[in-house]
Amino acid sequence: MSNCLQNSPPQKKKATMANRQNPLRDGLRLKRTPQPSTLIILGATGDLTKRKLVPSLYSLYIDGFLPQDFRIVAFARRDKNDDIFRNDMRDALREYYGEIDDANRMNRFLSLIHYHRGDFNQPEPHVELAQLLGKLQDERGITGNRLFYLATPPSTYQAIINNLGAAQLNKSPSGWTRVIIEKPFGRDLGSAIELGKVVDSVLTEDQIYRIDHYLGKETVQNILVFRFANGIFEPIWNRRYIDHVQITVAETLGLEGRGNFFEETGITRDIVQNHALQLFCLFAMEPPAAIDSNAVRNEKVKVLQAVKQFRESDVDELVVRGQYAAGSLMGQQLPGYKEEEGVATDSATETYFAAKFFIDNWRWADVPFYIRAGKRLPKRVTEIAIHFKNAPLQMFSEKARSQVGSNVLALRIQPDEGISLRFDSKVPGPSSLIRPVTMDFRYGTSFGQKPPDAYERLLLDALLGDATLFTRSDENQMAWKLLDPIFNRWNQLGRIELPQYQIGAWGPTQADHLLRNDHREWRRL
Ligand code: BG6
Repeated sequence: MSNCLQNSPPQKKKATMANRQNPLRDGLRLKRTPQPSTLIILGATGDLTKRKLVPSLYSLYIDGFLPQDFRIVAFARRDKNDDIFRNDMRDALREYYGEIDDANRMNRFLSLIHYHRGDFNQPEPHVELAQLLGKLQDERGITGNRLFYLATPPSTYQAIINNLGAAQLNKSPSGWTRVIIEKPFGRDLGSAIELGKVVDSVLTEDQIYRIDHYLGKETVQNILVFRFANGIFEPIWNRRYIDHVQITVAETLGLEGRGNFFEETGITRDIVQNHALQLFCLFAMEPPAAIDSNAVRNEKVKVLQAVKQFRESDVDELVVRGQYAAGSLMGQQLPGYKEEEGVATDSATETYFAAKFFIDNWRWADVPFYIRAGKRLPKRVTEIAIHFKNAPLQMFSEKARSQVGSNVLALRIQPDEGISLRFDSKVPGPSSLIRPVTMDFRYGTSFGQKPPDAYERLLLDALLGDATLFTRSDENQMAWKLLDPIFNRWNQLGRIELPQYQIGAWGPTQADHLLRNDHREWRRL
């Protein structure tokens, strides 16, 4: 079972194939080809494998980025064999990759996949896995470079890591061993530290790849380019010019069969602790000394260290949570959260989160950062919207400025990838009316194609041993530390009835009050 189902509606990936003429893919082309290796996916019958991992691997395969000698071992509990699993993946490619223009090539790719049945919570199947890997290597006469991918529920990580260690799979007799661990890594600071200890007792830090797939998104990487490759933004990127910032991660999807997983996490652990806080850090960090893995991660950690810690007594005022109730979205009548499969009928798990954060440093003192994330909202959109301060003096009459808003720079992470700037303009004609207009950059228009999937980039980087786009242990722990007072307060409150919002609404009304109390409003998306 996967813990990281993507919210993207099954995007047909014709774009990826056509992307071979694309400058973004040319960037990927500059990379070396990874060494011969085997990818072992634990929890391979889950959604992540079929929706994201296998389509991304196929894309890398077609583009010639996978090594000559590459195998995939799918490790899961269900009763399947190589043929059945390959057939499942054939269906998955048809559904999630898009048009397959060369069936023979797809079959050659599928023949690289082996199925290993076993319960990854038990030690024995790992010993058998070690034997299978040894056998595959002997047959091919290659070195034993191994990349493990934990696409399993977070509650299984400790057992799996221990089992890998006990079966001596934490190091390969003849090559490197790396382990990709899906988020969330821990469920609060204490458990993240504890899990970290288990992982550290079996693996070294350079073997661990904590994945947050947002970091593999082109638009997320572009935040650094936008800020630090251009000269004009730095002077205004601070409290003197910025009134406040809104970070939104909105999804239309609900649980997609992941009720058990979501009950363990809620939106705060599933999206805020990682994806939303990564956007926050990249937006707010100081320029790094260099664009390398340590310098960038050091600056991100400094942002988290400077965030004003919530006091438990402030949580009720500064943090809003909610849960979706039955309603209709895009013409479809949908069940409420508590009616979903795998969810307790009295669940107090939040499907919506909104909060106000402050960063106590010279750049950002007193600038509110409003972060919201939710499932079953009216629209799928992730963006960072920077609301600038108004002009110091209003020279135009209130009447003329009837529709005027502040200047907003929006970094659109998805799905309409791009950047836009809203500013006021005179309406043409004899009147002196003023209206906001938008200046727009779109990836699709400027680069001719949509960016490749984040998982392609991250899988390739892990095979190449480049950890820049993976999160570091201190970064992960600081993010938990920041959220811990919120979890503590919620634990004190116990299983209460959470504020409800109807499916298709922008969260509970309390979320609007959070901004209204500050005489602001959420951006209408
Ligand atoms: C995953 C979460 O990490 O991110 C999912 O587990 C969520 O719940 C998904 O739907 C969103 O990813 P994306 O790339 O579609 O925004």
